[in-house]
Amino acid sequence: MTRLPQITEVYLDNSATSPVFPEVLRLMEKVMQEEYGNPSSLHRRGSGAHRIMEGARQTLAGLLCVSSEEIIFTSGGTEANNLAVLGLARRHRRRGNHLITSLIEHPSVLEPFQQLENEGFHVTYLPPDERGLIDPETAAEAVTPETILASIMHINNEIGSLQPIHRLSRALKSRNPRLIFHVDAVQSFGKIPLLPGEAGVDALSLSAHKFHGPRGVGALYLRRGIKLEPLSRGGGQERGLRAGTENTPGVAGMALAARLCHEEQQQKTERLSFLKARFLAAVEQAHPQVKVNGPRNGKEAAPHILNLSFPGLKGELILHALEEAHVYISTASACHAHKKGPSHVLQALKLDQPHLEGAIRISLSLQNTLEQIDYAAAKLIRVVQELS
Ligand SMILES: Cc1ncc(COP(=O)(O)O)c(C=O)c1O
Repeated sequence: MTRLPQITEVYLDNSATSPVFPEVLRLMEKVMQEEYGNPSSLHRRGSGAHRIMEGARQTLAGLLCVSSEEIIFTSGGTEANNLAVLGLARRHRRRGNHLITSLIEHPSVLEPFQQLENEGFHVTYLPPDERGLIDPETAAEAVTPETILASIMHINNEIGSLQPIHRLSRALKSRNPRLIFHVDAVQSFGKIPLLPGEAGVDALSLSAHKFHGPRGVGALYLRRGIKLEPLSRGGGQERGLRAGTENTPGVAGMALAARLCHEEQQQKTERLSFLKARFLAAVEQAHPQVKVNGPRNGKEAAPHILNLSFPGLKGELILHALEEAHVYISTASACHAHKKGPSHVLQALKLDQPHLEGAIRISLSLQNTLEQIDYAAAKLIRVVQELS
């Protein structure tokens, strides 16, 4: 038997959250200690903090090729999604009461849509195909003159399906040019480029902790001229669209993490795809019965997310057996882990019960080495053998 290298831990749950870059941590500490003023204060301490906020805004805007005033800082992906869905639908209600989303969105998108149904809106939930992809033609057919908003995620957090956002935007807007198109790019930002201007996206959500930034900070891009009803009111921060004293260290950390992820992004994405393919090849060779839930590779697949089912085995048992070997994965998304019942995403793929129960998610980052990937694959192969 080949000897495994000495490995103390393999973290393969990066879609739940990712470790903060050391440079980001250092910057945040410095900002917390030195630029502790409130950005709204008129004295020197306030203007220092304000400058940091505006520098970070420019960095993010530059990476998205948009203007600074189109970036609204939030407390994370959940708030950005809530603000976009609730804020846009409520603000534009006079133009129509029809909304479109998909069945496989993150709960921070789906639950606001359910709330809007309670408020009298009519929502169409688009079904994915068996790989988790939304067909632009089907999306276009759902559009009516009453449709004011569509929200479709870029990369699905559970199965890694990567939606054809450019084609979806064209298809939706060809039927109704005034429709506002929001994209949850929480899982793709820093890995797969998506420029709102080029892609026909009017609003786009980000979350720092998915790309090695801090937790509790995110952003919403909102195209200039599009009006939105705020969810929080108070001190008028973020042009009155998101009241609350700004998280200056978090925002600074997010901008630095974003910049670092975008350096040589293409090579990094290729590296992630390579690691993912290597892991899958090893597992498939040992256990040909494994099923890949979602696209396996190619331009429809996220480079870092792999969802696998081992029919007859429970995903949770695999997770805990791997934990014993210090390999950390998940069964579905982190937000599902404490909910009863199978994931809504896997159900939308129409998986049968054994595949639903046997699903695990592996999500990689560039901090994973080749040795770690080989180690984790070997451990998974052994765990599946032992549990079968
Ligand atoms: C696709 C997607 N959208 C939104 C969120 C929520 O982001 P946050 O954890 O910053 O609230 C997540 C987090 O798991 C996600 O994966």
